[in-house]
Amino acid sequence: MSSSPHPHTFRLSPVAYEALTDHAAAEPELYWEGESRRLNWNAEPSQAYCEKQGWFADGALNASVNCLDRHLATRADQAALIWQAEDADRVLTFTYQTLHEQVCRLANVLRSQGVQAGDRVAIHLPSVPEGLIAMLACTRIGAIHVVLFGGFSAEAIADRLVDSGAVLVITANVGRRGAKRIAFKTALDAALDLHPEAHTVRHVLVVSVTDDDVSMQADRDIWLSPLLKDAAPDCAPQDMPSSAPLFLLYTSGSTGKPKGIVHGTGGYLVWASYTHELVFDHQEGDIFWCTADIGWITGHTYGVYGPLLNGGTVLLFEGMPSHPGPGRWWNVIQDHKVTTFYTSPTAIRALMREGNDVVQRYDLSSLRVLGTVGEPISHEAWSWFNDHVGGGRCAFVDTWWQTESGGIMISPVPGAVREKPASATLPLPGVHPVLLDERGTPKGGATEGVLCLKGSWPGRALTIWNDAALFERTYLQPYPGYYFTGDGARRDEDGYYWITGRVDDVINVSGHRIGSAEIEDALATELAIAESAAIGIPHDLKGQGIVVYVVPRDDAPDDLHLRAAKAITSKVGRYAAPEHIHVVPDLPKTRSGKSVRRLLRKIACGETEGFGDLSTLADPEIVATLISIIQAPK
Ligand code: PRX
Repeated sequence: MSSSPHPHTFRLSPVAYEALTDHAAAEPELYWEGESRRLNWNAEPSQAYCEKQGWFADGALNASVNCLDRHLATRADQAALIWQAEDADRVLTFTYQTLHEQVCRLANVLRSQGVQAGDRVAIHLPSVPEGLIAMLACTRIGAIHVVLFGGFSAEAIADRLVDSGAVLVITANVGRRGAKRIAFKTALDAALDLHPEAHTVRHVLVVSVTDDDVSMQADRDIWLSPLLKDAAPDCAPQDMPSSAPLFLLYTSGSTGKPKGIVHGTGGYLVWASYTHELVFDHQEGDIFWCTADIGWITGHTYGVYGPLLNGGTVLLFEGMPSHPGPGRWWNVIQDHKVTTFYTSPTAIRALMREGNDVVQRYDLSSLRVLGTVGEPISHEAWSWFNDHVGGGRCAFVDTWWQTESGGIMISPVPGAVREKPASATLPLPGVHPVLLDERGTPKGGATEGVLCLKGSWPGRALTIWNDAALFERTYLQPYPGYYFTGDGARRDEDGYYWITGRVDDVINVSGHRIGSAEIEDALATELAIAESAAIGIPHDLKGQGIVVYVVPRDDAPDDLHLRAAKAITSKVGRYAAPEHIHVVPDLPKTRSGKSVRRLLRKIACGETEGFGDLSTLADPEIVATLISIIQAPK
């Protein structure tokens, strides 16, 4: 248990926090009605929640007005966004006034390209200010943004463009990554060429991040910057119903295809503002740095919406933790006097390896709150981050949540909830986790089970784009009466939650969700592969690494490993590259033909015994065969 007293003054005392928790439990309708007043509504909602219509259903508002316009009276000259370029000498600061202007200009450009409220606009950009500006510009005119992670392969981009029905894409000529250049525009061109009849993209706006030239297709591709110069600096905001989709974000699940999670406007924004203020103890003058790419939900909720809704200052860093040297992130914290630093256990593990003397060279005394997200953090990584980066002075929030939850659900609240290293601790006021046994019965007290949530919360996703039935099947039907998170958890005698990881077939690589089926579907496109199974095993740096078993067809070529790897990186992306590919004669299957992943995991981890009863397998001998293949010297 962390005993070091925090020298900081936090917003919330334990007593005030308890009062919030009690109020949220006793009078949810009143509580959320109160929280909805964080936002400026054009039409005030008459009700907080109704099962049929969702959150703040008859309210109307505009997201960009809430992030920008309403702060102009008091914060016009305050920094809203500080962009630190890869080049240490290059910093761009956008005040609320100038950010407002940039957002309006881009919103006008979108309108001039024919984008209307409800249209989908894809954003495929590196970490440059235009990403955040583009998101807010979409919301200004009621368009739905679909941010695509820069690490996606052309095929992954194409699938998402087709599924979302995007009419316009905002991309960059290239992205900078250390000395390297990432070919954003070329990847997008390849994606658009893949299914020319299936996609609906009419225009591509190209941000020039560098002066690198790229090929531009007449009638489709336009450089953005001249259009922005000519656009008016004001743009009338579109009034949107609270339940209108604000954005789609694709994420992986147990089923093969990534699904477009749809977040609504009013509920999501209330949740982003509420959780950002509570969990990060948001205070006047804070500099908030979230290291997540805007291609992921963390980048949406805490890299953009939460801090801006609360009138904060966002820091966006273009570069990597290790370029040009291993202290780069610490340098950024020191130079910009970051107060709130939100990152991933994967990044912490990598930075830990650089040694304590690197971090000690920098003045990190501006930090007040440290946060992690995306995967379980080990006790060792927690302590290192707390002691060496936070100097034992900071609040530490290990935040559990997911794309579908919109924002943080289980987390310490600085000053109010006592931390325990590596525990996400307690649900936020208004969140009601339960641990269920396999039959769906809630388990009381200190126990372990499947983590579900009772009741709704404002940030909950509305549905899955194009597949409302899949939303029901995935989240609401597995345990009737509860929302199924896909995670397992343990609850200790103090009621604290310890997330144990996914209970479904989702693999968490460096905090990135990848479905086993997504990888297996990619492998199925390689003709030489008869069948395959992908599983996750513990990995020192990435949290989990992917191991793939492939069963070749009879006439399999010698380069099957290479072909399998290529199928995965080209269909999914490089971030899904497996650690090991094992070519095997068959998979352990039940008599009904289902691969037994539990055994595949154990064998991949190098275990040679303790497999339990194998008599239910169609061919029990296969286990020994796989062990001998995996143990054989390579
Ligand atoms: O398994 C949990 C893990 O990440 C999953 C959600 O992934 P994604 O939708 O990509 O969102 C990541 C950022 C919110 C969860 O189902 N996860 C997230 N936070 C934690 C975590 N596992 C353990 N501890 C956490 N703090």
